[in-house]
Amino acid sequence: MTASYLQPRNFMPDHEPLPITIREARSADAAALAVLRYRFRAELGAPVEGEASFVGRAAPWLRERLGRPPWRAWVAEGRSGAIAGTVFLQLVEKLPNPVAEAEAIGYITNLFVERSYRGCGIGGQLLQTALAACAPDEVDALILWPTPESVALYRRAGFAAPESLLERPLR
Ligand SMILES: CC(C)(COP(=O)(O)OP(=O)(O)OC[C@H]1O[C@@H](n2cnc3c(N)ncnc32)[C@H](O)[C@@H]1OP(=O)(O)O)[C@@H](O)C(=O)NCCC(=O)NCCS
Repeated sequence: MTASYLQPRNFMPDHEPLPITIREARSADAAALAVLRYRFRAELGAPVEGEASFVGRAAPWLRERLGRPPWRAWVAEGRSGAIAGTVFLQLVEKLPNPVAEAEAIGYITNLFVERSYRGCGIGGQLLQTALAACAPDEVDALILWPTPESVALYRRAGFAAPESLLERPLR
């Protein structure tokens, strides 16, 4: 379990006392993480599904996967136990190969911090926690699809647009 205490420079949320602890997510977090997932995606586009319906199907999906390969996830938790943010990492197997190349890819997804907590380092800390879980001899590269507002944060963490990767959207 990873724990770290964040010291914001100029930010104090009004509904949750700092410090925030980063810890690995567990299946008991599934319902709270389903709600965060809904808020994350509803910020990006008009939902075609109501929150209750979404949470009703996403919570069991998450409960089955949290704490189990190929998924890992972390949450930023306040003193009261409220979850302020999260990040997910999926280790995607590559085929075995006979050269010195790690045989997994890390897919980073669902990096989200509740709006009132943003800008005090929680997103950066969550991302660094996921990165630290990827040993270079086990994970060849990390991939993700950023939102416009997260690009600077990812670039600071070493992410860049590669020439060696092609994406083929299906719609
Ligand atoms: C992207 C996101 C996760 C960042 O979370 P965050 O907690 O605000 O991230 P941080 O606080 O670590 O960094 C955000 C900014 O605050 C600044 N910051 C960090 N700590 C700070 C502090 N103590 N005082 C002042 N500013 C600080 C950082 O420099 C950073 O600046 P940037 O705009 O150049 O990146 C958050 O904005 C979010 O959830 N957005 C919606 C979902 C989303 O887009 N997710 C990305 C998925 S690909």
